[in-house]
Amino acid sequence: MSGERKFILGVLGSGRGSNFVAVAEACRAGAVPAEVGLVLSDVAEAGILEQARRRGIQAQFIPPGKFRTRLDEEAEQAYLAALRAARVDLIVLAGFMRVLKPPFLDAFAGRIINIHPSLLPSFPGLEAWKQALAHGVKVTGCTVHWVDAGVDSGPIIGQQAVPVLDEDTPETLHQRIQEAEHALYPRCVGAIARGEIRLQGRRVFGGPPGVIRGA
Ligand code: GAR
Repeated sequence: MSGERKFILGVLGSGRGSNFVAVAEACRAGAVPAEVGLVLSDVAEAGILEQARRRGIQAQFIPPGKFRTRLDEEAEQAYLAALRAARVDLIVLAGFMRVLKPPFLDAFAGRIINIHPSLLPSFPGLEAWKQALAHGVKVTGCTVHWVDAGVDSGPIIGQQAVPVLDEDTPETLHQRIQEAEHALYPRCVGAIARGEIRLQGRRVFGGPPGVIRGA
């Protein structure tokens, strides 16, 4: 034991938790020099909580309060208290379907990242894979970015491209994007945990190179 303190991740999610699993497994395998200290969800029955508990990781449902798309003040404080108690270094949003507001963002300034299922700045917001199909793009993908006060608008850490096929349905396209997410998110978290990332204006240096799937 080196006695050196580990880089601790706090993961927030509302759904299945497949991105959490990808990051947690990469930590466990030693590919990412970090550990997931805590998983929080705004959905009591979210799969991500079950996935965390199965791995012996502390997991907690915290009710989001009275709003539909964000946390109310009381909830914000409860989330922050849990993240601080777990001594979280980086908040990893993994399908967390609420927008975080300035009081929360300020408390973890520059220490919150998100994964989004499109090549931002195309198709921010909900169900980005459906937006991509409806628009008719031939290439889409996923993006890991720092979280700022906008919607999916923060500086981009890493992106991975995914082809859109003629026979794609929303489900098949989302599935292909998720496979890319599971490769991209651990790479980006690893680069941050190793201290390789540098931000200059909107440009992020030191992240994984932009990747074409299969290339
Ligand atoms: C992921 O595809 C992620 O990109 C998306 O939710 C899914 C969560 O899946 N996030 C957003 O759309 C945020 N705007 P998971 O629970 O299996 O990781």
